[in-house]
Amino acid sequence: MADISSHPIPRHVAIIMDGNGRWATARGLPRVAGHREGAKAVRRAIEAAIGAGVHYLTLFAFSSENWARPAEEVADLTFLMKHYLRSELAELHEQGVRLVVIGERERFGDTLAVELEAAEQKTADNDRLVLIMALSYGGRADIVGAARKAIAAGIPAEELTEQNFGRLLSTDGIPDPDLLIRTSGEKRISNFLLWQLAYAELLFLPVLWPDFGAAEFSAAIEEYATRERRFGARPV
Ligand code: IPE
Ligand code: IPE
Ligand code: MG
Repeated sequence: MADISSHPIPRHVAIIMDGNGRWATARGLPRVAGHREGAKAVRRAIEAAIGAGVHYLTLFAFSSENWARPAEEVADLTFLMKHYLRSELAELHEQGVRLVVIGERERFGDTLAVELEAAEQKTADNDRLVLIMALSYGGRADIVGAARKAIAAGIPAEELTEQNFGRLLSTDGIPDPDLLIRTSGEKRISNFLLWQLAYAELLFLPVLWPDFGAAEFSAAIEEYATRERRFGARPV
C-alpha cells in the first residue's frame, strides 16, 4: 500500500455518485430505496473528505439530463434532497462545512431553492470543507451560461481568456478538481464539470454509490498519490 502521508492529498475531489438504482434493484427494492441509502453514503464521503484533509468536495447529485427520468423518481429525489438538507444542515455547519450549490436549483421549486440559498448564507464563513453540491447541473449549460455572461458584459473577443472565462463559470473561486471519482462501473463523464476536469485524475470504481464509504475514499486518495500529473509538460 502506498504511504499516503508522504504524498499530496488532492485539494479538490469531485464524485459522480452513481449506482443507486442498481443497488436497489439487486435487492428487489424500489429505486428510491437506493437513493435513500445513497444519502447515507454522502454523509460518509463528507466525513472521509474532512478526515483526509481534502478542502473541496463536489458531489454530482442530479444532472440536467436527470429531468428525463419518470416524474415519480424526480419527485422522490427532490424530496430526499429537501429532507437531507433539513436533517444535516446543523451538523454540517457544526463540522465547519461551507455549502455551495451549482446548477439550476430553481427547477426544483421555490421551497428547496430558498432553503439552499439560506444554507449557503448560513455556512458562508465556514472553511474546513467547501461542499459543492451539483444539482440540476450540466457542464455544457455551465459553459453556455459563461459565454452568455461574457457577451452580456460586452467583453471584447480579444480580451476573453481562459482565466476570465473560467471566472464566469458557476465554479468561480473553486480550484479545478484534482481527482474525479465515478462509482457504479460506468466510465463516462455524463456532462459533469466539462471545463473544470481538463486535468483531473480519473478514477472509475465498480462499487455502487450506496456501498461507498471511508475505506473506498481512502483507497481513492492512495490511488491518486500514485498518479504522475504532468499537465502536458515533459517529465524530467
Ligand atoms: C445515481 O444513481 C443517482 C442519480 C443519478 C440521481 P442512479 O439512479 O443513476 O443509479 P443507476 O445508475 O440506475 O444504478
Ligand atoms: C450521472 O449519472 C449523474 C449523477 C450521478 C447525478 P447518470 O446515471 O444520470 O448517468 P448516465 O445516464 O448513466 O450517463
Ligand atoms: Mg446512473
